[in-house]
Amino acid sequence: MSASSELEKTATAYALDAVRLDKQGQKGRAITLYQKAIEALLQLVQLYPEYGLNKVYVQRAIAYQERIKALQGAVSPMEMNEAANENGENGGATMDGNNGGGGSAKPNEELVVTEKPKVSWAEVVGLEVAKKAVKEAIVYPVQRPDLFPLGWPRGILLFGPPGCGKTLLAAAVATEIDANFYSIDAASIMSKWLGEAEQNVAKLFGSARKSATEGKPAIVFVDELDSLMGNHSNEVGGEIRVKNQFLKEMDGIADKGKALHVYIMGATNKPWDLDWAFIRRFQKRILVPLADSATRLNMLKHYTETLTVDTNVDLTELARLAEGFSGSDIRDVCQSAQLKLIGEFFESGKATDKEAKPRALTMADFRQIFEERKPSVSLDMLTNYNRWFDAFKAL
Ligand SMILES: Nc1ncnc2c1ncn2[C@@H]1O[C@H](COP(=O)(O)OP(=O)(O)OP(=O)(O)O)[C@@H](O)[C@H]1O
Ligand SMILES: [Mg+2]
Repeated sequence: MSASSELEKTATAYALDAVRLDKQGQKGRAITLYQKAIEALLQLVQLYPEYGLNKVYVQRAIAYQERIKALQGAVSPMEMNEAANENGENGGATMDGNNGGGGSAKPNEELVVTEKPKVSWAEVVGLEVAKKAVKEAIVYPVQRPDLFPLGWPRGILLFGPPGCGKTLLAAAVATEIDANFYSIDAASIMSKWLGEAEQNVAKLFGSARKSATEGKPAIVFVDELDSLMGNHSNEVGGEIRVKNQFLKEMDGIADKGKALHVYIMGATNKPWDLDWAFIRRFQKRILVPLADSATRLNMLKHYTETLTVDTNVDLTELARLAEGFSGSDIRDVCQSAQLKLIGEFFESGKATDKEAKPRALTMADFRQIFEERKPSVSLDMLTNYNRWFDAFKAL
Protein backbone atom coordinates (compact mmCIF):
# COMPACT_ATOMS: atom_id res chain seq x y z
CA MET A 1 0.00 0.00 0.00
CA SER A 2 1.34 3.45 -0.81
CA ALA A 3 2.11 5.87 1.98
CA SER A 4 -0.68 8.17 0.86
CA SER A 5 -3.42 5.56 1.00
CA GLU A 6 -2.03 4.42 4.35
CA LEU A 7 -2.39 7.96 5.69
CA GLU A 8 -5.82 8.30 4.20
CA LYS A 9 -6.85 5.11 5.94
CA THR A 10 -5.45 6.37 9.21
CA ALA A 11 -7.31 9.65 8.92
CA THR A 12 -10.56 7.87 8.10
CA ALA A 13 -10.19 5.44 11.00
CA TYR A 14 -9.60 8.29 13.46
CA ALA A 15 -12.49 10.26 12.06
CA LEU A 16 -14.89 7.31 12.30
CA ASP A 17 -13.91 6.68 15.91
CA ALA A 18 -14.23 10.37 16.68
CA VAL A 19 -17.73 10.50 15.29
CA ARG A 20 -18.73 7.39 17.21
CA LEU A 21 -17.40 8.77 20.52
CA ASP A 22 -18.92 12.12 19.75
CA LYS A 23 -22.31 10.45 19.39
CA GLN A 24 -21.78 8.67 22.68
CA GLY A 25 -21.15 12.01 24.34
CA GLN A 26 -17.49 11.25 25.10
CA LYS A 27 -16.39 14.72 24.27
CA GLY A 28 -12.83 14.60 25.54
CA ARG A 29 -11.89 11.52 23.60
CA ALA A 30 -13.82 12.57 20.53
CA ILE A 31 -11.84 15.81 20.47
CA THR A 32 -8.54 13.92 20.71
CA LEU A 33 -9.50 11.68 17.81
CA TYR A 34 -10.80 14.50 15.62
CA GLN A 35 -7.48 16.11 16.29
CA LYS A 36 -5.60 13.02 15.16
CA ALA A 37 -7.72 12.84 12.03
CA ILE A 38 -6.86 16.47 11.28
CA GLU A 39 -3.18 15.78 11.79
CA ALA A 40 -3.23 12.83 9.42
CA LEU A 41 -5.11 14.84 6.78
CA LEU A 42 -2.71 17.74 7.01
CA GLN A 43 0.26 15.43 6.77
CA LEU A 44 -1.27 13.96 3.66
CA VAL A 45 -1.75 17.37 2.10
CA GLN A 46 1.78 18.40 2.94
CA LEU A 47 3.37 15.23 1.65
CA TYR A 48 1.42 15.10 -1.61
CA PRO A 49 0.62 18.69 -2.52
CA GLU A 50 -0.36 17.75 -6.07
CA TYR A 51 -2.89 15.13 -5.07
CA GLY A 52 -6.34 15.64 -6.55
CA LEU A 53 -8.38 15.05 -3.44
CA ASN A 54 -6.48 17.53 -1.31
CA LYS A 55 -9.17 20.15 -1.45
CA VAL A 56 -11.59 17.67 0.04
CA TYR A 57 -9.10 16.77 2.74
CA VAL A 58 -8.64 20.37 3.75
CA GLN A 59 -12.39 20.89 3.87
CA ARG A 60 -12.76 17.84 6.04
CA ALA A 61 -10.01 19.02 8.37
CA ILE A 62 -11.76 22.36 8.70
CA ALA A 63 -15.06 20.65 9.43
CA TYR A 64 -13.45 18.55 12.17
CA GLN A 65 -11.91 21.62 13.65
CA GLU A 66 -15.28 23.34 13.74
CA ARG A 67 -16.66 20.33 15.55
CA ILE A 68 -13.83 20.45 18.08
CA LYS A 69 -14.59 24.08 18.73
CA ALA A 70 -18.25 23.30 19.22
CA LEU A 71 -17.44 20.47 21.61
CA GLN A 72 -15.00 22.59 23.56
CA GLY A 73 -17.58 25.28 23.96
CA ALA A 74 -20.13 22.76 25.17
CA VAL A 75 -18.71 21.16 28.25
CA SER A 76 -21.03 22.76 30.74
CA PRO A 77 -22.11 20.31 33.44
CA MET A 78 -25.71 20.50 32.28
CA GLU A 79 -24.90 19.41 28.79
CA MET A 80 -22.65 16.73 30.12
CA ASN A 81 -25.58 15.31 32.02
CA GLU A 82 -27.76 15.49 28.95
CA ALA A 83 -25.15 13.62 26.99
CA ALA A 84 -24.98 11.06 29.76
CA ASN A 85 -28.72 10.57 29.70
CA GLU A 86 -28.81 10.05 25.98
CA ASN A 87 -26.10 7.48 26.29
CA GLY A 88 -27.90 5.82 29.10
CA GLU A 89 -30.62 4.86 26.65
CA ASN A 90 -28.18 3.38 24.21
CA GLY A 91 -26.40 1.54 26.97
CA GLY A 92 -29.73 0.15 28.12
CA ALA A 93 -30.48 -1.17 24.68
CA THR A 94 -27.27 -3.12 24.42
CA MET A 95 -27.62 -4.41 27.93
CA ASP A 96 -30.89 -6.13 27.09
CA GLY A 97 -28.88 -8.31 24.79
CA ASN A 98 -26.70 -9.80 27.49
CA ASN A 99 -28.96 -9.59 30.46
CA GLY A 100 -26.76 -10.52 33.41
CA GLY A 101 -25.00 -12.96 31.16
CA GLY A 102 -21.58 -11.65 32.13
CA GLY A 103 -20.93 -10.62 28.56
CA SER A 104 -19.32 -7.35 29.51
CA ALA A 105 -16.35 -7.77 27.19
CA LYS A 106 -18.10 -5.41 24.83
CA PRO A 107 -18.33 -2.35 27.04
CA ASN A 108 -14.76 -2.94 28.10
CA GLU A 109 -13.57 -2.92 24.55
CA GLU A 110 -15.52 0.19 23.78
CA LEU A 111 -14.47 2.27 26.69
CA VAL A 112 -11.06 1.11 27.72
CA VAL A 113 -8.23 2.16 25.54
CA THR A 114 -5.27 -0.05 26.12
CA GLU A 115 -3.49 1.06 22.97
CA LYS A 116 -0.22 2.47 24.12
CA PRO A 117 -0.01 6.20 23.64
CA LYS A 118 3.23 7.47 22.20
CA VAL A 119 3.91 10.81 23.78
CA SER A 120 7.44 11.84 24.68
CA TRP A 121 8.37 14.18 27.54
CA ALA A 122 9.52 16.70 24.94
CA GLU A 123 5.99 16.97 23.55
CA VAL A 124 4.77 18.12 26.95
CA VAL A 125 5.88 21.74 26.93
CA GLY A 126 6.54 23.41 30.28
CA LEU A 127 4.83 21.85 33.34
CA GLU A 128 8.22 21.26 34.95
CA VAL A 129 6.85 20.94 38.48
CA ALA A 130 4.14 18.51 37.41
CA LYS A 131 6.59 16.45 35.34
CA LYS A 132 8.98 16.18 38.24
CA ALA A 133 6.19 15.13 40.57
CA VAL A 134 4.94 12.33 38.30
CA LYS A 135 8.47 11.11 37.71
CA GLU A 136 9.05 10.86 41.44
CA ALA A 137 5.73 9.17 42.02
CA ILE A 138 5.76 6.63 39.19
CA VAL A 139 8.80 6.57 36.94
CA TYR A 140 11.50 6.18 39.59
CA PRO A 141 9.68 3.52 41.65
CA VAL A 142 9.13 1.49 38.48
CA GLN A 143 12.80 1.74 37.57
CA ARG A 144 14.25 1.02 41.03
CA PRO A 145 11.62 -0.31 43.44
CA ASP A 146 14.44 -1.44 45.75
CA LEU A 147 15.12 2.21 46.62
CA PHE A 148 11.63 2.70 48.07
CA PRO A 149 11.50 0.51 51.20
CA LEU A 150 8.60 2.51 52.58
CA GLY A 151 6.55 2.03 49.45
CA TRP A 152 5.35 4.74 47.13
CA PRO A 153 2.09 6.39 46.16
CA ARG A 154 -0.27 4.59 43.81
CA GLY A 155 -2.83 7.33 43.33
CA ILE A 156 -1.96 10.51 41.47
CA LEU A 157 -4.48 13.22 40.83
CA LEU A 158 -3.86 15.74 38.07
CA PHE A 159 -6.10 18.75 38.21
CA GLY A 160 -6.23 22.11 36.53
CA PRO A 161 -7.91 24.14 33.83
CA PRO A 162 -9.00 22.44 30.60
CA GLY A 163 -6.54 21.96 27.78
CA CYS A 164 -3.35 22.42 29.77
CA GLY A 165 -1.87 18.95 29.38
CA LYS A 166 -3.31 16.58 32.00
CA THR A 167 -4.11 13.87 29.50
CA LEU A 168 -0.89 14.53 27.65
CA LEU A 169 1.15 14.18 30.82
CA ALA A 170 -0.51 10.88 31.73
CA ALA A 171 0.25 9.56 28.25
CA ALA A 172 3.89 10.63 28.55
CA VAL A 173 4.24 8.70 31.80
CA ALA A 174 2.77 5.58 30.21
CA THR A 175 5.18 5.87 27.29
CA GLU A 176 8.15 6.40 29.56
CA ILE A 177 7.63 3.33 31.72
CA ASP A 178 6.31 1.16 28.91
CA ALA A 179 3.15 0.43 30.86
CA ASN A 180 -0.16 -1.02 29.84
CA PHE A 181 -2.40 2.00 29.73
CA TYR A 182 -6.04 1.57 30.66
CA SER A 183 -7.76 4.78 29.84
CA ILE A 184 -11.35 5.30 30.82
CA ASP A 185 -13.59 8.26 30.82
CA ALA A 186 -15.53 8.44 34.06
CA ALA A 187 -18.47 10.21 32.45
CA SER A 188 -18.91 7.35 30.01
CA ILE A 189 -18.55 4.66 32.66
CA MET A 190 -21.61 6.05 34.31
CA SER A 191 -23.63 6.47 31.18
CA LYS A 192 -22.62 3.47 29.11
CA TRP A 193 -22.04 0.70 31.58
CA LEU A 194 -25.15 1.48 33.61
CA GLY A 195 -25.93 -1.46 35.89
CA GLU A 196 -22.68 -3.15 34.97
CA ALA A 197 -20.40 -0.32 35.92
CA GLU A 198 -19.25 -1.77 39.22
CA GLN A 199 -18.37 -5.15 37.78
CA ASN A 200 -16.59 -3.51 34.89
CA VAL A 201 -14.55 -1.35 37.20
CA ALA A 202 -13.57 -4.48 39.14
CA LYS A 203 -12.67 -6.24 35.90
CA LEU A 204 -10.62 -3.34 34.75
CA PHE A 205 -8.54 -3.33 37.90
CA GLY A 206 -8.32 -7.12 37.67
CA SER A 207 -6.67 -6.81 34.25
CA ALA A 208 -4.37 -4.08 35.51
CA ARG A 209 -3.23 -6.25 38.43
CA LYS A 210 -2.76 -9.21 36.12
CA SER A 211 -0.59 -7.12 33.85
CA ALA A 212 1.55 -5.96 36.76
CA THR A 213 1.88 -9.50 38.14
CA GLU A 214 3.13 -10.58 34.76
CA GLY A 215 5.82 -7.93 34.94
CA LYS A 216 4.25 -5.12 32.92
CA PRO A 217 3.39 -1.98 34.92
CA ALA A 218 -0.19 -0.81 34.55
CA ILE A 219 -1.63 2.68 34.64
CA VAL A 220 -5.34 3.09 35.02
CA PHE A 221 -6.12 6.56 33.79
CA VAL A 222 -9.51 7.90 34.76
CA ASP A 223 -10.37 11.07 32.92
CA GLU A 224 -13.12 13.41 34.14
CA LEU A 225 -12.98 11.84 37.57
CA ASP A 226 -15.42 14.38 38.97
CA SER A 227 -18.29 12.76 37.08
CA LEU A 228 -18.14 9.81 39.51
CA MET A 229 -19.28 12.11 42.25
CA GLY A 230 -22.95 12.09 41.34
CA ASN A 231 -23.74 15.69 42.02
CA HIS A 232 -26.60 16.37 44.39
CA SER A 233 -28.63 17.98 41.64
CA ASN A 234 -28.85 14.82 39.59
CA GLU A 235 -28.11 11.61 41.39
CA VAL A 236 -28.96 9.22 38.57
CA GLY A 237 -28.15 6.34 40.87
CA GLY A 238 -25.24 3.99 40.73
CA GLU A 239 -22.59 6.66 41.09
CA ILE A 240 -22.16 5.97 44.76
CA ARG A 241 -21.69 2.24 44.24
CA VAL A 242 -19.26 2.79 41.41
CA LYS A 243 -17.38 5.36 43.40
CA ASN A 244 -17.13 2.93 46.32
CA GLN A 245 -15.86 0.25 43.98
CA PHE A 246 -13.11 2.62 42.89
CA LEU A 247 -12.21 3.40 46.49
CA LYS A 248 -12.06 -0.32 47.25
CA GLU A 249 -9.86 -1.01 44.25
CA MET A 250 -7.57 1.84 45.18
CA ASP A 251 -7.17 0.45 48.69
CA GLY A 252 -6.50 -2.96 47.17
CA ILE A 253 -3.68 -1.61 45.06
CA ALA A 254 -2.17 0.16 48.01
CA ASP A 255 -2.09 -2.91 50.35
CA LYS A 256 -1.35 -5.83 48.15
CA GLY A 257 0.91 -3.90 45.97
CA LYS A 258 4.12 -3.48 47.89
CA ALA A 259 5.98 -4.35 44.73
CA LEU A 260 3.12 -4.33 42.26
CA HIS A 261 3.22 -1.57 39.73
CA VAL A 262 -0.41 -0.62 39.36
CA TYR A 263 -1.08 3.10 39.40
CA ILE A 264 -4.22 5.06 39.17
CA MET A 265 -4.01 8.49 37.65
CA GLY A 266 -7.08 10.63 37.84
CA ALA A 267 -7.67 13.85 35.95
CA THR A 268 -10.24 16.49 36.61
CA ASN A 269 -10.85 20.12 35.96
CA LYS A 270 -13.35 20.29 38.79
CA PRO A 271 -11.33 19.10 41.80
CA TRP A 272 -13.71 20.87 44.18
CA ASP A 273 -16.41 18.38 43.27
CA LEU A 274 -14.37 15.47 44.64
CA ASP A 275 -15.15 14.28 48.13
CA TRP A 276 -12.60 13.68 50.83
CA ALA A 277 -12.64 9.87 50.56
CA PHE A 278 -11.35 10.26 47.05
CA ILE A 279 -8.97 13.11 47.63
CA ARG A 280 -7.31 11.25 50.48
CA ARG A 281 -6.54 8.19 48.34
CA PHE A 282 -4.70 10.24 45.79
CA GLN A 283 -1.55 10.71 47.79
CA LYS A 284 -0.13 12.96 45.09
CA ARG A 285 -2.21 15.90 44.00
CA ILE A 286 -0.64 17.85 41.24
CA LEU A 287 -1.75 21.10 39.65
CA VAL A 288 -1.34 21.24 35.89
CA PRO A 289 -1.41 24.99 35.50
CA LEU A 290 -2.07 27.40 32.71
CA ALA A 291 1.08 28.23 30.75
CA ASP A 292 3.06 31.33 31.73
CA SER A 293 4.56 33.57 29.06
CA ALA A 294 7.85 31.67 28.75
CA THR A 295 5.94 28.41 28.32
CA ARG A 296 3.59 29.98 25.79
CA LEU A 297 6.63 30.99 23.77
CA ASN A 298 7.97 27.43 23.91
CA MET A 299 4.59 26.08 22.88
CA LEU A 300 4.49 28.44 19.92
CA LYS A 301 7.98 27.28 18.93
CA HIS A 302 6.89 23.68 19.31
CA TYR A 303 3.74 24.05 17.24
CA THR A 304 5.30 26.12 14.46
CA GLU A 305 8.34 23.90 14.17
CA THR A 306 7.00 21.92 11.22
CA LEU A 307 5.36 24.93 9.53
CA THR A 308 6.90 27.38 7.10
CA VAL A 309 6.95 30.70 8.90
CA ASP A 310 7.89 34.11 7.51
CA THR A 311 10.78 35.99 9.09
CA ASN A 312 8.37 38.74 10.18
CA VAL A 313 6.68 36.40 12.64
CA ASP A 314 7.58 37.45 16.15
CA LEU A 315 6.84 34.55 18.44
CA THR A 316 7.47 36.62 21.56
CA GLU A 317 4.77 39.03 20.47
CA LEU A 318 2.45 36.10 19.76
CA ALA A 319 3.18 34.72 23.22
CA ARG A 320 2.08 38.08 24.59
CA LEU A 321 -1.13 38.03 22.54
CA ALA A 322 -1.77 34.51 23.83
CA GLU A 323 -2.04 35.61 27.44
CA GLY A 324 -4.53 33.33 29.18
CA PHE A 325 -4.42 30.74 26.39
CA SER A 326 -4.04 27.06 27.24
CA GLY A 327 -1.71 24.68 25.41
CA SER A 328 -4.72 23.42 23.55
CA ASP A 329 -5.70 26.98 22.51
CA ILE A 330 -2.18 27.66 21.27
CA ARG A 331 -2.10 24.49 19.24
CA ASP A 332 -5.46 25.46 17.72
CA VAL A 333 -4.19 28.92 16.82
CA CYS A 334 -1.22 27.48 14.93
CA GLN A 335 -3.36 24.89 13.27
CA SER A 336 -6.04 27.38 12.25
CA ALA A 337 -3.46 29.67 10.70
CA GLN A 338 -2.04 26.77 8.71
CA LEU A 339 -5.48 25.53 7.64
CA LYS A 340 -6.46 28.95 6.38
CA LEU A 341 -3.28 29.26 4.41
CA ILE A 342 -3.61 25.86 2.79
CA GLY A 343 -7.28 26.50 2.03
CA GLU A 344 -6.31 29.73 0.30
CA PHE A 345 -3.63 27.91 -1.68
CA PHE A 346 -6.15 25.45 -3.04
CA GLU A 347 -8.73 28.14 -3.77
CA SER A 348 -6.16 29.98 -5.87
CA GLY A 349 -5.79 26.90 -8.06
CA LYS A 350 -2.03 26.97 -7.61
CA ALA A 351 -2.03 23.58 -5.98
CA THR A 352 -2.43 21.87 -9.36
CA ASP A 353 1.12 22.89 -10.18
CA LYS A 354 3.25 20.13 -8.72
CA GLU A 355 6.15 22.45 -8.02
CA ALA A 356 4.09 25.11 -6.28
CA LYS A 357 4.34 25.53 -2.55
CA PRO A 358 2.05 27.58 -0.31
CA ARG A 359 3.49 30.89 0.92
CA ALA A 360 4.95 31.19 4.41
CA LEU A 361 2.74 32.08 7.37
CA THR A 362 2.97 35.74 8.30
CA MET A 363 2.37 37.79 11.39
CA ALA A 364 -0.87 39.04 9.81
CA ASP A 365 -2.16 35.47 9.52
CA PHE A 366 -1.59 34.91 13.21
CA ARG A 367 -3.03 38.27 14.21
CA GLN A 368 -6.20 37.49 12.30
CA ILE A 369 -6.62 34.23 14.20
CA PHE A 370 -6.03 35.97 17.52
CA GLU A 371 -8.73 38.48 16.70
CA GLU A 372 -11.24 35.68 16.37
CA ARG A 373 -10.26 33.81 19.51
CA LYS A 374 -10.55 34.29 23.21
CA PRO A 375 -8.71 32.34 25.89
CA SER A 376 -10.77 29.37 27.07
CA VAL A 377 -9.71 29.77 30.69
CA SER A 378 -10.94 32.70 32.77
CA LEU A 379 -9.21 34.48 35.63
CA ASP A 380 -11.91 33.39 38.04
CA MET A 381 -11.27 29.79 37.20
CA LEU A 382 -7.56 30.21 37.88
CA THR A 383 -8.18 31.69 41.29
CA ASN A 384 -10.30 28.67 42.16
CA TYR A 385 -7.61 26.20 41.12
CA ASN A 386 -4.98 27.98 43.14
CA ARG A 387 -7.24 28.09 46.15
CA TRP A 388 -7.96 24.40 45.92
CA PHE A 389 -4.26 23.66 45.41
CA ASP A 390 -3.32 25.62 48.53
CA ALA A 391 -5.84 23.68 50.56
CA PHE A 392 -5.17 20.19 49.22
CA LYS A 393 -1.81 20.12 47.50
CA ALA A 394 0.39 17.09 47.90
CA LEU A 395 3.42 17.08 45.63
N1 LIG B 1 1.76 21.59 28.10
C1 LIG B 1 1.44 21.32 26.82
N2 LIG B 1 2.43 21.14 25.92
C2 LIG B 1 2.14 20.86 24.63
N3 LIG B 1 0.89 20.74 24.16
C3 LIG B 1 -0.13 20.92 24.99
C4 LIG B 1 0.10 21.21 26.38
N4 LIG B 1 -1.10 21.32 26.99
C5 LIG B 1 -2.02 21.09 26.04
N5 LIG B 1 -1.45 20.86 24.84
C6 LIG B 1 -2.16 20.57 23.57
O1 LIG B 1 -3.53 20.56 23.85
C7 LIG B 1 -4.09 19.25 23.68
C8 LIG B 1 -5.08 18.99 24.79
O2 LIG B 1 -4.41 18.84 26.03
P1 LIG B 1 -4.86 17.79 27.11
O3 LIG B 1 -5.89 16.88 26.54
O4 LIG B 1 -3.68 17.15 27.70
O5 LIG B 1 -5.54 18.76 28.15
P2 LIG B 1 -6.27 18.41 29.49
O6 LIG B 1 -5.57 19.18 30.56
O7 LIG B 1 -6.35 16.94 29.67
O8 LIG B 1 -7.68 19.05 29.26
P3 LIG B 1 -9.13 18.61 29.77
O9 LIG B 1 -9.24 19.06 31.19
O10 LIG B 1 -10.03 19.38 28.86
O11 LIG B 1 -9.23 17.13 29.61
C9 LIG B 1 -2.90 18.32 23.71
O12 LIG B 1 -3.14 17.15 22.98
C10 LIG B 1 -1.82 19.17 23.10
O13 LIG B 1 -1.90 19.15 21.70
MG1 LIG C 1 -7.93 15.66 29.39
